[in-house]
Amino acid sequence: MRIVTSVAAMLRLARRWRRHGTRVGLVPTMGYLHEGHLSLVRAARKRVGGTGRVVVSIYVNPTQFGPREDLARYPRDLKRDVRLCRAEGVDVVFAPDDAEMYPGKAAGNYSTYVVEEKLSQGMEGASRPGHFRGVTTVVAKLFNIVQPDVAVFGAKDFQQAAVIKRMVRDLNFPLKTLVAPIVRELDGVAMSSRNKYLSGDLRQQATVLQRSIQAVRRAVTTAKQPAPAVQLRSLVGKVIQTAPDARLDYVEFFEPETLSPVAKVSPGTHMALAVFVGGTRLIDNGRL
Ligand code: PAF
Repeated sequence: MRIVTSVAAMLRLARRWRRHGTRVGLVPTMGYLHEGHLSLVRAARKRVGGTGRVVVSIYVNPTQFGPREDLARYPRDLKRDVRLCRAEGVDVVFAPDDAEMYPGKAAGNYSTYVVEEKLSQGMEGASRPGHFRGVTTVVAKLFNIVQPDVAVFGAKDFQQAAVIKRMVRDLNFPLKTLVAPIVRELDGVAMSSRNKYLSGDLRQQATVLQRSIQAVRRAVTTAKQPAPAVQLRSLVGKVIQTAPDARLDYVEFFEPETLSPVAKVSPGTHMALAVFVGGTRLIDNGRL
């Protein structure tokens, strides 16, 4: 396995693979890898086969963090990530630094961004202004640098996957986007690098997201007719109250293809929520 830190070296490799007709799978990550990320690596390997190449990018992208968010303390452990990637049969870990990814930015000379204007407006986009501009920009750059045939993202970031798919379509990136299912801990908490912030009791309270989804799913599947979203919002509020340190940021009910909010919720509607547990903001989602 190779560890590549420069854009120029990654581009050289990508061009060589392209010349030889080698299939390439990319798993973009911000590192601090867990079983959820490794499931994306396996999905990429399955897609490109034994003769293909799997690249895992590890880069904590500053442009997708707001000024009051956790960029500085975001968990990092490149050594451990490299070990996990090696064990998983990854071919290349691409781990650039900020100067490689955003040349000139420190001196105020970086000025090009990619913006998706529709699917990125609600939920995470509304709660974290500028977040998706950072995500689409860095992912577009990674696509240009690695030139993958397939890129794999996790369904925990449901809106992110939809925004990236739209960008791929709208900007004609010649690749397929795969979205792999959420991987959960035994108690139902969706795997996330940010779970590391949660100590004993807060970690237990984090189950409140999955419990909210389950409560809504039960209500929707047993209802005789579509349930009003306002009613389900207050149901979620009640579940969240069972965790003393949890605070609801948003909950949304929407069409999974268009992300359009719905007023009446029926089986097949999608639900996403963000909750602060202590000082840690967690997200989750599920089909109802
Ligand atoms: O999902 C993530 O980890 C990040 O948003 C991504 C896609 C790697 C872009 O920085």
